[in-house]
Amino acid sequence: MQVGAGKIVVLGTGGTIAGTAANAGDNIGYTAAQVGVQQLLDAVPVLAALAGGALVSEQVAQVDSKDMPFDVLLTLAARCAHHLADPAVAGLVITHGTDTIEETAWFLHALLDARKPVVLTCAMRPATALVPDGPQNLLDAVAVAAMPGARGVVVVAAGAVHGALSVRKVHPYRIDAFDSGEQGPLGWVEEGRVRMAHAWPVNAALGPGVTGGSSEGTAAPSALPVWPRVEIVMNHSGADGRVVDLLVADGVAGLVVAATGNGTLHHALEAALLRAQAAGVAVRVTTRCTLGRVLARPTDALPVDAQGLSPVKARIALWLELYRTRRTAQGPAAG
Ligand code: SIN
Repeated sequence: MQVGAGKIVVLGTGGTIAGTAANAGDNIGYTAAQVGVQQLLDAVPVLAALAGGALVSEQVAQVDSKDMPFDVLLTLAARCAHHLADPAVAGLVITHGTDTIEETAWFLHALLDARKPVVLTCAMRPATALVPDGPQNLLDAVAVAAMPGARGVVVVAAGAVHGALSVRKVHPYRIDAFDSGEQGPLGWVEEGRVRMAHAWPVNAALGPGVTGGSSEGTAAPSALPVWPRVEIVMNHSGADGRVVDLLVADGVAGLVVAATGNGTLHHALEAALLRAQAAGVAVRVTTRCTLGRVLARPTDALPVDAQGLSPVKARIALWLELYRTRRTAQGPAAG
C-alpha cells in the first residue's frame, strides 16, 4: 500500500474498535468508544510510516453505535461532505461500531456525492484484546481509501470490501461478522492490495437538502423541523395490529414493516397498517428474509420498499425522505 496521492482523513465515531476491557482476555465485557481516533492510528505504526503526514484524524463522536442518534449521523455526513470537497483529500476512513455500521453506511451513501472513497471500518474485539482485529481493519481501510479509482461508500472488515446497499452484520461474535448476501463483497484487501470483484458503488447524493444546504455543517438546531419518527414493526406468527395503532396514536410519521416472505402480513397487522396509511403515516413493506427482495404485485395495497433494502436501511431511507419533505415544507429558513 502506498499513501501519497492525497490526504486521508480518518473520522472517529467510537465503537468496539475504540473499546477497552479490564482484562485482555475479555472480548465481550468491554466498554465501547473509549479510545480516541488518533490513539487508534498511533497504535498502527506501519500506518504512520506509510502515510507520513498524509493521514489526519478528527473525532466526530465517541459513541457505542447501538446508541447512534440522527444528529450525529447528520454531523458525520456534513464533516464527510466538508472533507470530500477539499481537493487535497484523496479519501475518508470512518471508525465506527459494528452494530449499526450498515445503517450509517446506507445513510452516507444516500447523502454524499462520494466520487472519492468513504470507507467505514470497525472491529469485533476491543482495542485492549489479546489479538484485536481493529488495527488490521484500519490498515485495510486506509489501503482502500488510498486506492486510485476507488469511490463510493463502503465497509471494510475482515479483509473484505462491502457495498453500503448489501452489507449486513450477520454474526454477533465472529471477527468475520459481515456479509453481502447474494452479490458477495465488492472485493478484498490482501496485503495492502485491493482486488475488486464488482465495480465501485455510485451513490445517490441527496446532499444539501438534508445536510443543511452547505458542505460546512448542518443547519442550526433551532432551524430544523421536528424530526420524523420512523419505527420498524415485524410480522410473525400470532402478530396483531395493536402495536401499529399505539404508534399511530403516539404520532409516528413512518412505519417500515419487516414482513414475512414476499411481503406477507398477518391480516390483523395488515389492516392496522392500512389504517395507519389512511391516517397519513408513510408505510413501506420490506422482508425479514435476509436474501432477495420483495417482488411487488399490482394488487398490493401497501407500498413495497422500491430499493429492496433491509428493514433497518429502509427505515433510514424513509426517515431521510420524510425529513427532506419537512425541510422543504419549512422553506429556505431551514438552510
Ligand atoms: C458498537 O457497535 O459500537 C459496539 C459493538 C461493536 O462495535 O462491535
